[in-house]
Amino acid sequence: MQVSSAELLAAARSYQCAVGAFNIYNLEGVKAVIGAAEALHSPVVLQIHPAALTFGERPLIALCLAAADQATVPVSIHLDHCSSADAISLALEAGMRSIMVDGSQLDYEANRSFTSEQTAQIHTRGGVVEAELGRISGSEDGLSVPEREARMTDPILAADYVAQTGVDMLAVCIGNVHGRYRGEVQFDFGRLAAIRKSVSIPLVLHGTSGVPNELVRRCIDLGVCKFNVNTELREAYMNVLRQTHHDLIDVMTAAVAAMQAVVSEKLRLFNSVGLADALSK
Ligand code: 13P
Repeated sequence: MQVSSAELLAAARSYQCAVGAFNIYNLEGVKAVIGAAEALHSPVVLQIHPAALTFGERPLIALCLAAADQATVPVSIHLDHCSSADAISLALEAGMRSIMVDGSQLDYEANRSFTSEQTAQIHTRGGVVEAELGRISGSEDGLSVPEREARMTDPILAADYVAQTGVDMLAVCIGNVHGRYRGEVQFDFGRLAAIRKSVSIPLVLHGTSGVPNELVRRCIDLGVCKFNVNTELREAYMNVLRQTHHDLIDVMTAAVAAMQAVVSEKLRLFNSVGLADALSK
């Protein structure tokens, strides 16, 4: 069944666990995420990256919505990292109600004003908004330590940003990066604790692929209730394509199984197994 991301994150918060948000690109991804969620009685977020939306357009959204409607567990459909007002309008038109408004490449004032404007529009349509303060880097960015720190979320500004924009979930930058981490993963947990104190809305962590389990658990303890996972799923899919298969359905089936294994492992790590049952009571 389709539910709001806000409802899922609120439930995760009260059960001290987190919801997995998995980037999908096609039918195999959708089947893998919902298959794992149903097997483990866990809610999930199906997440569409703007690049996937550019490729799949409305049929990709329709696939996700139909799969969510049929699922036996709560599923929300979320547009990831969207910095285009046109793409946000398209997503709303096509029935999506959970959107990450991404103004993180803008300076603070411009980010705040773009995010406020889009949030008002999305709220009017009954949707919910995730936004990012600071800027999540890619592992390939090669930033120095001071450069990376300058991109982290400022706990004081975060309170102002949330109050001014009215967003519903905040993506934090505490040393997390998209893609594979170079070297040891190091998060600024003091900063995360300070952000948790300064804002009351649910917190989100991007760049979960490759983060050691104990760090994920610490993030949950400090209030993160949505984790985004993309790279590990894509790698599982691509590894299957490197194997020899003689039939397309065999390739697709193997890709679903490989991605489903990754999703299942993450749902256990996020401690959301069985949360679907609690939500349906
Ligand atoms: P990874 O690709 O590092 O898993 O990050 C995914 C993400 O944060 C999507 O928004």
